[in-house]
Amino acid sequence: MNSQDKREKILVTSALPYANGPIHLGHLAGAYLPADIYVRYNRLKGNDILFICGSDEHGVPITITADKEKIKPKDVIDRFHRINKDSFEKFGMSFDIYSRTSLPLHHETAGEFFLSFHRNGLLSEKKSMQFYDESAKMFLPDRYVEGTCPNCGNENARSDECENCGALYEPAELKNPVSRISGKTPVLKETSHWFFPLGKYQQELEEYIAGMNEKFGWKDNVLQYCRGWFKDGLQDRAVTRDLDWGVRVPLDNAAGKVLYVWFEAVLGYISATKELSLKRGNGEMWRDYWQDADTKYVAFIGKDNVVFHCIVFPAMLMAWNGFNKQQYILPQNVPANEFLNFEGKKFSKSRNWGIDVIDFLNKFPADPLRYTLAANLPEMRDTDFYWKEFQARNNNELADILGNFINRTFTFVFKHFEGKVPQLHELEETDNVMLKLLETAPERIGALYDRFKIKDAVLESMNIARAANKYFNDSEPWKTVKSEREKCSTTLNICIQTIYTLAELFSPVIPFTTERLFKMLNSAPALWYGAGKHSLLEGHVLNKAEILFPKIEDAVIEKEVNSLALPAENAEVPKDELVTIDDFSKIRLKVAEVTEASAVPKSEKLLKLKIHLDGEERQIISGIAKSYTPEEMVGKKVLIVANLKPAKIFGHESHGMLLAIGTGNDKLVLVEINKDVPNGAIAK
Ligand code: 2FM
Ligand code: ZN
Repeated sequence: MNSQDKREKILVTSALPYANGPIHLGHLAGAYLPADIYVRYNRLKGNDILFICGSDEHGVPITITADKEKIKPKDVIDRFHRINKDSFEKFGMSFDIYSRTSLPLHHETAGEFFLSFHRNGLLSEKKSMQFYDESAKMFLPDRYVEGTCPNCGNENARSDECENCGALYEPAELKNPVSRISGKTPVLKETSHWFFPLGKYQQELEEYIAGMNEKFGWKDNVLQYCRGWFKDGLQDRAVTRDLDWGVRVPLDNAAGKVLYVWFEAVLGYISATKELSLKRGNGEMWRDYWQDADTKYVAFIGKDNVVFHCIVFPAMLMAWNGFNKQQYILPQNVPANEFLNFEGKKFSKSRNWGIDVIDFLNKFPADPLRYTLAANLPEMRDTDFYWKEFQARNNNELADILGNFINRTFTFVFKHFEGKVPQLHELEETDNVMLKLLETAPERIGALYDRFKIKDAVLESMNIARAANKYFNDSEPWKTVKSEREKCSTTLNICIQTIYTLAELFSPVIPFTTERLFKMLNSAPALWYGAGKHSLLEGHVLNKAEILFPKIEDAVIEKEVNSLALPAENAEVPKDELVTIDDFSKIRLKVAEVTEASAVPKSEKLLKLKIHLDGEERQIISGIAKSYTPEEMVGKKVLIVANLKPAKIFGHESHGMLLAIGTGNDKLVLVEINKDVPNGAIAK
């Protein structure tokens, strides 16, 4: 049977994001957009596919957020589950289900796995001494205790390891431990946990990965991470924690203990599929996927999740399969991506660096973002999102290449052929070349998708649109319409067929736009491999063209770039990061007088200020325009960071920064100094 005819059964999962904050563009490029494109492509191929995702709703960070905001963990997860579900919908993620790990069905499923392992004697129980915060009444996970390294004296060492000298030690050896939750000294208390013997599965895991790689070609970055883990030798892993938020350990003697979040989150894929089964009225349907050797399972994740998806999860499934009759399938491929950074730096909420998906989609439509991210996916190495690139991909590629070809073709057909598909007459060499390109494109581009070369597939699709513009230009229909009407008609027939093929090829990438495009064509998508063959008959009536990709103006992009340089009013201040007096004295705080002030054109937030220091005049661009008018500013004595590196903000030199306090709603209050204090005086 030809590979084109066989209907495959495919299970696709995307990492379950923590419901502890809004997802940002980096998440999309890692585990979500590539999965959605792959799924949409496979649906067009006619494959039987399930696409599973949901919120990961346990883990310590959620309880920390809840404590900080004086609300319940349930309130935290409800808020971010809703925000993230909504963000994904607006972005066009076509999940069959977006579930949550707080559901009873998930707790049952995870409990079953734990019990199966426990009953069969796989888990060992070990006692250890752990830090306990008596005021917060909780055991402290490693990263919530800091102290002095017993080896090198580093004062910011973690409870069991020092990042400075690399030493590993028992928590009892850490000097001056401090709880990062209460700031108090924690005590050591005995506790016991259950451990999963990962090492026992090392050989089977190595064989599994080698076998899958041989047959299906795993990505090099993923193989390298796995080799690293194998080289170090897999160790026993604690699968329980002392917490009261999570999946309870389903044993009698386990009060106050929950399953380690990673141990249960990966099982969330299975429980989500069970939930989908129930929703579709066939509670056993999930078994047709998870427990059928004919299913191909692909797990999309970011690189930080590799060990859990390529080692921990498969080991758990192997363990289950060793004790039970119903056999789970293992991932056939785990095409993990590297990270997407933002304008050259890591996304950071606390430093206001980056943009949340929901904020982005409140300003711009999803498809230009989908295309920009897809054309620059971090498949082999980290890549960056740049606002300027976003604008260029929209304006120079979507609008000027794809949009332009569609627009000029429709305009021509409506002007000269009554908005109907023109007749095809005798073909010339250039026509044949174009038709051949269309005919072979789905197979060629599909082969890239099949190998998870999503970025290449998307760029190749745009190359078809480039070739289409060239075909239009070379055929010169604006000349032939007068002299050789049949040739002109043939050209435009082929141009319409090309648009049809482009609509299909771009469907996985920019689905909102191609839906509109199919409406313009008064048609519907074909099966993938048929998309390059003639599908619109001569005389077929078209609908009027719409502008598919409005251009994005410079000023709009500049505003976004500019808002990055400004501190977010509500940005979290990193907690408890202590500095020494030496650190502080590096910052020169000086008194300055504002002598001139004016608005910065095209910016709502910025003022351009002239200030006087001790005998020196400087320009500072300050983000205070929403709180102070230029007139109000002149004559004020303010406090500035005088030794801040000069920077260009919105194209203007800025040398220094005014100190101000955010009071919410975009409003700032300046730190003002008594008029008697001389300019240039230093604050200490
Ligand atoms: O990295 C994360 O956001 C995790 N919440 C991913 C979990 S994936 C799976 F295990 F559920
Ligand atoms: Zn140390």
